[in-house]
Order: sequence, then structure tokens, then C-alpha cells
Amino acid sequence: MPDSVNEAESSEAFKTGPLKLGIAGLGTVGVGVLDMLTKNGDLLTRQAGRAIEVTAVSARSRKSDRGGHDVSVYEWFDDPVEMAKSDNVDTFVELIGGEDGPAKAAVEAALKAGKHVVTANKALLAHHGASLAKLAEENNVCLNFEAAVAGGIPIVKTMRESLAGNGIKKVFGIVNGTCNYILTKMENEGRDFRDVLEEAQELGYAEADPSFDIGGIDAAHKVACLTSLAFGTQTNFDSIFIEGIEHITLDDIKNASTLGYKIKLLGVSVETPDGIEQRVHPTLVPKNSPIASVDGVFNAVGLTGVFVDELLLTGRGAGAHPTASSVVGDIADIARGKHVPVFGIPASHLKEYKRAPMRAHEGGYYVAMDLYDKPGSVAFIAKAFCEAGISIESIEQKAPVNKGVEKPTAPFILTTHDTMENSMRAVLKEIANADYCAGDPRMIRMERY
Ligand SMILES: NC(=O)c1ccc[n+]([C@@H]2O[C@H](COP(=O)([O-])OP(=O)(O)OC[C@H]3O[C@@H](n4cnc5c(N)ncnc54)[C@H](OP(=O)(O)O)[C@@H]3O)[C@@H](O)[C@H]2O)c1
Repeated sequence: MPDSVNEAESSEAFKTGPLKLGIAGLGTVGVGVLDMLTKNGDLLTRQAGRAIEVTAVSARSRKSDRGGHDVSVYEWFDDPVEMAKSDNVDTFVELIGGEDGPAKAAVEAALKAGKHVVTANKALLAHHGASLAKLAEENNVCLNFEAAVAGGIPIVKTMRESLAGNGIKKVFGIVNGTCNYILTKMENEGRDFRDVLEEAQELGYAEADPSFDIGGIDAAHKVACLTSLAFGTQTNFDSIFIEGIEHITLDDIKNASTLGYKIKLLGVSVETPDGIEQRVHPTLVPKNSPIASVDGVFNAVGLTGVFVDELLLTGRGAGAHPTASSVVGDIADIARGKHVPVFGIPASHLKEYKRAPMRAHEGGYYVAMDLYDKPGSVAFIAKAFCEAGISIESIEQKAPVNKGVEKPTAPFILTTHDTMENSMRAVLKEIANADYCAGDPRMIRMERY
């Protein structure tokens, strides 16, 4: 490895000429990438063994400020598809976003034109990962997507390369910073969901339309990618069980804390005898587990490998510079001539995804309900769980909160030992239909890391 830019310039590797980048999308991440290439270009040249140059850019507005960068020095394309095909570009960097539309059209055009692609687009990969991997392979080019899963955390490369030959049994993570920020604030400051969401929007941690984040869709996009990397299967977004954090109350967070747990939005992909379970949902995790300490906007991805055993990577899951760090790492690999199959094994060898039904999921459950303060209520609940074959781990009945009204209620919390989701859904339906509980009982899944 040469130890100066001049030496790098005279090395064999450098004689292959500069890597010519076309960057489509000059928003948060695009500008972050320009920052990094500008600030650390020399370091990157030395590490990659050749210069990396931006030759072309594309965005919607030609006039917008791009973080102070003078983008007029690059060839401008209104249409990213045209840029993808340009002779002036040999690596296409897609930072537009969206599962279809211009991002998909341009990535496909680039791959077909024999250009390497680097993307941060999880929605695109989650929905079209298998077909894009095939297209990349047919054209003998790279499709690198480190930034698409957990921003700055190098989990894709870790799973795809460092853990080759391990055999992964389970991968899980906190992969949405907005949800983790909201849940952490609720817990630390005793504020309710809507209040914290509004603040997150004001601070720019949540979108004006936060539904993709708080509804679990964004996390599910990342789970789809992690599943393919872990199990060598074709991406299958539509089979993911998704539940967001909108229904989590401050009382749930306080109850979980009393029981020794925190509530996190987890994405999980796990191999079961029935197939692969992919799920995103709020989860009670023990306070003393490593994942419970991942707070605020931070992300974490953990996994169990047959040889490596337990692993947990934490870091910033979003933001201009952490995300740019992953994009630039992918670009450096291409500059070095490194070519790894998109999901770690050739696209033609990716297995068809077999879904394990969520109803067959086994785990512990937290249940909260408002029981009418009358004789027989608790006995009814205990009997219903007993008849469903569900073993109760803990029970707590609190004092009535609304004495003086016609039918006062008391909060009633229980947790279960591991049981089948099917049994839980059945027993909660039975309770909801009986006259012992105001409103429907609610359950949150538990993991005992
Ligand atoms: N933001 C993060 O922290 C983060 C983290 C991880 C991954 N990602 C992923 O990175 C990608 C980019 O995210 P971002 O936050 O940087 O988005 P963003 O700030 O909204 O930027 C999107 C960029 O795409 C450009 N664009 C939109 N339509 C276009 C078109 N038809 N042709 C050319 N350019 C077009 C926009 O142009 P104008 O500026 O002219 O409107 C803008 O520059 C997404 O896939 C996202 O999921 C983001």
C-alpha cells in the first residue's frame, strides 16, 4: 500500500485511472458524500489505490444550494437515467430514494449499461433486491448497499464478507432511529407518544409524514435485506409481519420498566422449523440486555452465528455523514476492484423465501387491560389463560383509576412464559368478548436476550 498520494499515483493500481462517479440525489446523503469526498479525498485515494472523482450529478433542482458545494463543476443531468448510461460515469451512486420511480429506473439502466451501482435505498432493495441482484450478476457489476441498512453501521459487509461460512440463525436490531428516539424520550421524560413525536418532527428527527417510520415500514425494509444476507434467500418484503409503535402508551413503558424491561421497536429475522419468521414490532427487552442500552437515535444490529456466536454492532443509523461513510466505503471497494455477490451468494443461488406464519411465533407476551372492578374479573382472566394452556409469569392489578363512575376499572398487567401467538390471539379475543374488561386487551411481544 503506497503511503503518500504521489506514491499512489505512480502505483500499478493507480494506472487504471480514476473511478468516475455519477451521483444521483444531492439531498441529505448526497451532500454528505460530497463532504466526505472533498474533505478526505486524499486519504481515500491512498486507501483505494486510485483517485475517485465525481464527474456527473443529478437532482431535481439545478439551483438549490448543495451544502456550499459548487456542483456546476460536474456535468449536470436532469434525468438520472441518462446519467446512468453516460460514458462519463463508471459507477452510479443512487441517493434519490423510493422503491420505484426514477431510482429504480436509473439503477436498472446503470446495471444494464455495465456500471457498478452504490445505493442507500432500502425500499428499492427490499422490494426488488432479488431481481436487481440478478441484473447486476448478468452484467458482471457490483451492487453495493451498505448504507441501506442501519446507516453508518457496517452490518452488510460484516454479514456478507466477514461472517462467510458461519451460518446465521437469527438477526435482529433497532433499525429505525426515529422510533428509538421517541421511545427513549417517552421513558426518560415521562411524556406521551404524540408529544414526543411532535418534538421529533420539529427537530427534524421525524418526517412531516412519519407513517413509514412509526408504522414500522422503514424498519421492515431493512429486515428484508438482513434476511437475505442472513439466510441466502430472495428478498420478500410482503411476508414481513409489521406492527408500529403508535399504540404504545406511557403506561406501557412505565409498566415494562417496573417489570425490568424497556420497550424497543425491533426488527427480527429468525430461522424456525416452519420457515423464516420476519417481523417488526414493539418488544419488551430486559433492561440488562446489551440491546436495551441502545437509546435515542442510535441503531444496533445483533446476530447469532454458529461459529462467531453473539455479535452486536451499534452506531448511528442515519444522518448525512454516518450514511455517507457507508456509501464511500462501498465506492472504495469498487475502486479497489473488489466484487462480492450482492447478498453474499450468487443471485441464481438465492433460495426462495419460505414464510413461517406469525401465528406460529413462540415467545413471551406482556398484556395490559382495564378490568372492571367487580368480583370474578381476575378469576375469569386466570381461567381463560389456564384453559388456553398459557402459563402466566407475573400478574399485577393496580388500584381503580376512576372511582365514582358507574363502572370503575383497574389497570391489570400480566406477562406470560413462552407460548404460541395463536393461543394468545385466541385468549385475548375471548377476554375482549366477555364483560370483564373495558376496551380490548393489548399485547406486546417480549424477547429475553
Ligand atoms: N437521510 C438519511 O439519514 C438516510 C440514511 C440511510 C439511508 N438513506 C437513504 O438514502 C436515500 C436518500 O435519502 P436522503 O435523506 O438524502 O433524501 P433527500 O434529502 O430527500 O434527497 C433526495 C435527493 O434526490 C433528488 N431527486 C428526487 N427526485 C429526483 C429525480 N427524479 N431525479 C434526480 N434527482 C432526484 C432530490 O433532488 P432535489 O434536491 O433537487 O429535490 C434530492 O437531492 C434514500 O434512499 C434514503 O432512504 C437516508
